[in-house]
Amino acid sequence: MDTPLSFFCLKKIHQSLTLFNHNLTRLCNLSVKNSQISATDKRVFLSHYDLQEINNDDQYLRLAMEKLVEIKDVCKIYNPGENEVRALDHVNLTIGEGEFVAIIGQSGSGKSTLMNMLGCLDTPTSGKYFLHGQDVSHMTDDEQSDVRNREIGFIFQGFNLIPSLTAMENVELPLIYRGVGKKERDRLADAALNSVGLEKRKTHRPSEMSGGQQQRVAIARAIAQAPPILLADEPTGNLDTGSTKEVFSIIKRLYKEGRTVIVITHDPGIASQAKRIITISDGQIKSDIINENYVD
Ligand SMILES: Nc1ncnc2c1ncn2[C@@H]1O[C@H](COP(=O)(O)OP(=O)(O)OP(=O)(O)O)[C@@H](O)[C@H]1O
Ligand SMILES: [Mg+2]
Repeated sequence: MDTPLSFFCLKKIHQSLTLFNHNLTRLCNLSVKNSQISATDKRVFLSHYDLQEINNDDQYLRLAMEKLVEIKDVCKIYNPGENEVRALDHVNLTIGEGEFVAIIGQSGSGKSTLMNMLGCLDTPTSGKYFLHGQDVSHMTDDEQSDVRNREIGFIFQGFNLIPSLTAMENVELPLIYRGVGKKERDRLADAALNSVGLEKRKTHRPSEMSGGQQQRVAIARAIAQAPPILLADEPTGNLDTGSTKEVFSIIKRLYKEGRTVIVITHDPGIASQAKRIITISDGQIKSDIINENYVD
């Protein structure tokens, strides 16, 4: 294992590890086309390097070089005391780079609280949150905002566009806050809007666009500066069936391009389109499975 590994190799290792972590039997069938990594029912091989016996989660997780999110025993308690609400109750969760995860649960189950935690919009009452190995659970607001700007693109159910600004201006706004110069802003916003198929709507204001188009502007805004993580809270909640398909196919494409995508939803139809499905109820993770019916 002293040999330098290519990025591609590491990615493949990670994918196999994620798979392993969730479903040992699936690993038996794993074999990556370029033959850099392959597996038998007992061992994983990287080219001719035997990576270790598959009998120890920790060993393999340590090898997962691209572990992105690690939530350890996190609780979020509102109104501590007699009327306290445990919105998150001892949550443990690991998400690797490049995963496509749906977090599903009923209203009040703790989805948005978890999303706020994942997105560094809130801090836990107890427990720790590591993002890229960095402890972000008890950062100041400014530090959290730095991490958000660097790492995360948000998509919300209500689009959260500014009504008086055009599509271009809405996409450019966060770039202004990040100190990106005008020329680069124009380039990034232009490319982002093109990538969601809104070439002809750049000067339109939100009121002049359909719900699906508005959500596509919001996606363009989220991806303009190519953050590695995309966090979407009920991204299709306000959309009709046609727009839901359109928007979700864009989200799926962004995952295929290499981003880590985490979608929060109450809708099993949406969750079933992700590769990994995590179910949350009463602030606790009840199940965490690889979606056997995932269609690429
Ligand atoms: N600021 C707050 N103060 C007190 N309780 C809160 C607060 N925010 C959320 N809660 C409670 O925490 C629990 C989880 O709320 P959360 O918003 O995470 O649920 P959710 O799964 O996103 O629900 P929905 O699908 O309706 O959006 C709920 O019982 C809610 O009432
Ligand atoms: Mg919610």
